[in-house]
Amino acid sequence: MDNIVSTIIYILILFSTALYYCLSKNKERTNKGRAKLPPGSMGWPYIGETLQLYSQDPNVFFAQKQKRYGDMFKTKILGCPCIMLASPEASRFVLVTHSHLFKPTYPRSKETMIGPWALFFHEGNYHTHLKKLVHNSLSPEALRKLVPDIEAIIISCMQTWESGLITNTFHEMKKLSFEVGILAIFGHLEIKYKNALKENYSIVDKGYNSFPTNLPGTAYHKSLLARERLNQIIREIISERKQKKLLDKDLLGYLLNFKDERGQTLTEDQIADNIIGVLFAAQDTTASVLTWILKYLHDNQKLLEAVKIEQRAVWTLNQEGEQPLTWAQTRNMPLTHKVILESLRMASIISFTFREAVTDVEYDGFLIPKGWKVMPLFRNIHHNPDHFVDPKSFDPARFEVAPKPNTFMPFGSGAHACPGNDLAKLEMLILIHHVVTKYRWELVGSKGGKVQYSPFPVPLNGLPAKFYKEPTTNQ
Ligand code: HEM
Repeated sequence: MDNIVSTIIYILILFSTALYYCLSKNKERTNKGRAKLPPGSMGWPYIGETLQLYSQDPNVFFAQKQKRYGDMFKTKILGCPCIMLASPEASRFVLVTHSHLFKPTYPRSKETMIGPWALFFHEGNYHTHLKKLVHNSLSPEALRKLVPDIEAIIISCMQTWESGLITNTFHEMKKLSFEVGILAIFGHLEIKYKNALKENYSIVDKGYNSFPTNLPGTAYHKSLLARERLNQIIREIISERKQKKLLDKDLLGYLLNFKDERGQTLTEDQIADNIIGVLFAAQDTTASVLTWILKYLHDNQKLLEAVKIEQRAVWTLNQEGEQPLTWAQTRNMPLTHKVILESLRMASIISFTFREAVTDVEYDGFLIPKGWKVMPLFRNIHHNPDHFVDPKSFDPARFEVAPKPNTFMPFGSGAHACPGNDLAKLEMLILIHHVVTKYRWELVGSKGGKVQYSPFPVPLNGLPAKFYKEPTTNQ
């Protein structure tokens, strides 16, 4: 019996390999006479180079490929043929100038989890409308008003750090960025709703990166159930807000008041999916960069001293921290701002993004076939010595001169560029102000600079650290 099974498996493998070979030959023949595919290797039948990518640091995988094949190369990941783009010009072509030839693309399981109406999955009118609403809710005027509340959230989170060892700094930063996300979306939300959102969102978060098997007991299944509960909670919040006839200028307010040119409003599902989408886009990204900032500052003590001097001047002006930070002060922290830019470059937490060609596209003499994924590799661009001298060294001074066009894209580029970039930077400025004026911190057991992917890169084990309160006298 065992023999029969293994023979069948053997025949199936042979058959599928032969079929794959014929199909790829056929594809090559149909491509004859047109531009050729970029260099690269497609790896094994079906799985392509998925194992090579996931068995090592993905950045090493991409860097090795770029070294071997140049700035444009093909590969196959998770069954999808892909073209990687490691030049600023090619990224601009895909994301900005010829973005109509490429559409956003996400695995179906992720789309289901976040909600199919979230703006990242859309293009055209719907996307433009939604993007404008998110932008309006995060305009400089809106952010200015949020400064005291963001400051209060940061101070309250930091107070819990005083108890000693923080086993996972990234998790602390996630709590913080979640609170700020809730603030930007709902304004001052009742604690019962906040707790319910927190509890269910954390279940969704756990299942988001799990294998998408929708069977009872699996993380994915639990996540889907929690996602349904989130919809219910958001409906209750909406209903309460409608009853109270509140006209708040937070994201929920903008979503509720929207009418398109035909007078059409958004459905509750559309509102809920976009709220979850924004929370999702805001939390781990910001938390990961905040964690890296603490690591970089810790590892560069001279720089930390200089940042302290800049921040202590503000602190002194604010009557030794008695007065709250102002929006104008956050706009005038030049060194701290450069530290943030350099952290975004060094960590490049969004290493790349995905699009899919909606038609055959020719770029730089190469063919990008319809249906193939294209991946602008932000990290490779940020770490290319042609664009950033000595890219492995942490040097905020490099941002005294603006980077060359399209070489610095931590928040993406084009129609889908991040609308939350100013909010994220504001959180970073406020956190740095408080952490360097009030605390000294030591890293615990993360000397090697190892990185963990969850899925964004974070320092190993989320950067365990010890925080010590500094005496609050002006020295
Ligand atoms: C350091 C923190 C952050 C980083 C590095 C980051 C990075 C990015 C990048 C690279 C994109 C573009 C993805 C693509 O083109 O495929 C993006 C999109 C997006 N981000 Fe952020 N982000 C951050 C924080 C935030 C925050 C705080 C919010 C909201 C409050 C936010 C909301 C969004 C949304 C809604 C999109 C989708 C935009 C669209 O599809 O039009 N992000 N982000």
